Amino acid sequence: MVEKYKPISPKYPHILHGGDYNPDQWLETPEIIDEDIRLMKKAHVNVVSLGIFAWSKLEPEEGKFDFSWLDNIMDKLAKNGIYVILATPSGARPIWLAKKYPEVLRVDDERQRQLYGGRHNHCLTSPIYREKVRIINTKLAERYKDHPALIAWHISNEYSGECHCPLCQEAFRQFLKNKYGTLEKLNHEWWTSFWSHSITDWSQIESPSKKGEFNLHGLKLDWKRFITHQTVDFFKNEIGPIRRITPNIPVTTNLMGLCPEYDQWEMAKVEDIVSWDNYPEWHNDYQKTWETAAATAFSHDLNRSLKGGRPFMMMESAPGNINWRNINKLQRPGIIELQSMQAVAHGSDTVQYFQWRKGRGGFEKFHGAVVGHSGSENTRIFSEVSKVGEDLEKLDAVVGTTVKPEVAVVFDYQNLWAIEDARISNCESMNYTKTCIEHYTPFWKKGVPVDVINEMADLSGYKLVIAPMAYMLREGFAERIDKFVKGGGTFVTTYLSGFVNDNDLCWLGGFPGPLRKILGIWDEEQDALYPSDKNSIVLNEGNELGFKGSFDIKDMCDIIHAEKAQVLAIYKSDFYKGKPALTVNNYGKGHAYYIAARTGTDFLDKFYSSIIEKFGIKKTIDSELPEGVSAEYRTDGENDFVFIMNFTEETKTVKITDQYKNMLDGNPESETIQIPAYGFKLLQRNAK
Ligand code: GLA
Ligand code: ZN
Repeated sequence: MVEKYKPISPKYPHILHGGDYNPDQWLETPEIIDEDIRLMKKAHVNVVSLGIFAWSKLEPEEGKFDFSWLDNIMDKLAKNGIYVILATPSGARPIWLAKKYPEVLRVDDERQRQLYGGRHNHCLTSPIYREKVRIINTKLAERYKDHPALIAWHISNEYSGECHCPLCQEAFRQFLKNKYGTLEKLNHEWWTSFWSHSITDWSQIESPSKKGEFNLHGLKLDWKRFITHQTVDFFKNEIGPIRRITPNIPVTTNLMGLCPEYDQWEMAKVEDIVSWDNYPEWHNDYQKTWETAAATAFSHDLNRSLKGGRPFMMMESAPGNINWRNINKLQRPGIIELQSMQAVAHGSDTVQYFQWRKGRGGFEKFHGAVVGHSGSENTRIFSEVSKVGEDLEKLDAVVGTTVKPEVAVVFDYQNLWAIEDARISNCESMNYTKTCIEHYTPFWKKGVPVDVINEMADLSGYKLVIAPMAYMLREGFAERIDKFVKGGGTFVTTYLSGFVNDNDLCWLGGFPGPLRKILGIWDEEQDALYPSDKNSIVLNEGNELGFKGSFDIKDMCDIIHAEKAQVLAIYKSDFYKGKPALTVNNYGKGHAYYIAARTGTDFLDKFYSSIIEKFGIKKTIDSELPEGVSAEYRTDGENDFVFIMNFTEETKTVKITDQYKNMLDGNPESETIQIPAYGFKLLQRNAK
């Protein structure tokens, strides 16, 4: 049974629509603030994120607070029916704080303390910074705890980066003491006898640096885990007073898509709601628009999966353009609403933009905004945003609904960190993230819902689990896969899987280590292919997948022995000509597939189409979707809300077989629907 979740706030159980609002940049012109409110209402904005970078306006001098301007704005917003996601300001600190307490400034890996400037650059450990953050957060929570506008907390902003100061070094050593207990154990797990790096005193341990320790992979992996731990710990410090004073107001911190700076799964455990900032590079010259859409969908699905299907928030997205890439192309008409509906389709209960109004100065003055420097509401962007707001008002029934996919793709940050250090076969083209997206895309194309999980996830409930390049097998992962396949599940993995354990020590006794038995293969050697090297895999006649042909391979491939597995395809040339390249092992009640070489998407499309058919995996709609059209759904158990979206530059035709109602105009939808370029249909049907 599919669970329906509570809305973000009971105060306003609707899809939230709004964005980052920086009135602190406009305090000298109060008339602009009044105008903003008029325009927000016109654009159907019902929420703003406030005060994200406002620390120097809230505490202009140490211990001297000024909340009057914020009181005024919060009151005005409340009076006008606009809710507030109130930020804690730790993402950027005032100058006075850095000057008086230099320990709050971050130290880089070359042990250089940074000067004041920028943002997102505080020490993660500094007790002074933590204390200052706690003080201002306490004041904010106490002051606004009963404010009618407050519906959620936006903690800091896009936590990222690392600090190598002495305080962080000491905290790192403590983290390691807790993890390993003894130096003997640590030396073993880090394999420090390599190049004579044995550690004889805890104080000798230093964070990784290109100018220092950079070759002990176990140390580097633990440093990443420490950064995750310290970031989450910093977050816990921030939310301490907030949870105490406002226990019923949810907290979130905006994540950055697939950014591997820290393990977002650990943050998701602590926050109440997941939120993330979505900036696809639409209309680029290296992908089709729908490929950008598929990659974006992958991120949305990850964010929904972070809390087991709970709706998330798209905390930021660009209205029109961004400004931080070198080429900042305008979003073509229709994209703002299409990317907004895509977020909702995958489980977002909000559509929020960065930013409401363009500032006059500074780095982001030309970043897309709902209101530009003209101040006019008669703009393309303003009317596109208003249309989004109008349409979202018709989607109340979608709030809190989710989807329970039968398919999961494993994308694991810790595995990614390990792969980046792997120094095996083709180190130039590891492309772990890209590969995971390539294994996800065949499902997106067919409208099959997918969860994006990590290696620690519970696998019960899935029919198909795909773990591309599962190089590092984290604790218990192989056992969970074993149980999953024995119980009847289908598992797919690839080349470069099952090489190291949780601490980056190679499995002994033959790769893919503990997956060997499940897959029924032994991976003996790993080859790298230069771009000019040519080889392919050839499907065996009469294989169980039901398709034939030869498919080019690239970048890397493994030379394997089918011990128990059945061979479905073989290599075409080179000294491993005729050896297995694709296998399946019947294991318990289930099946375990192994793809030994990196292929193109031509093979993946065919392979997964066959798997979808063979194992009866459910699609959002029965008919085939034309290229570039995606179909997703959310359900409350009684009704399915189906989003069909056209991410191409042409009109597309889609056939539907069930009885549908158009959610925007209430009319029934006929069997053949036309969707214009960058258009979409929001449909409702009885739950299937
Ligand atoms: C990030 C930040 C915002 C803003 C946008 C610009 O996501 O969180 O403050 O800088 O980028 O795209
Ligand atoms: Zn530090």
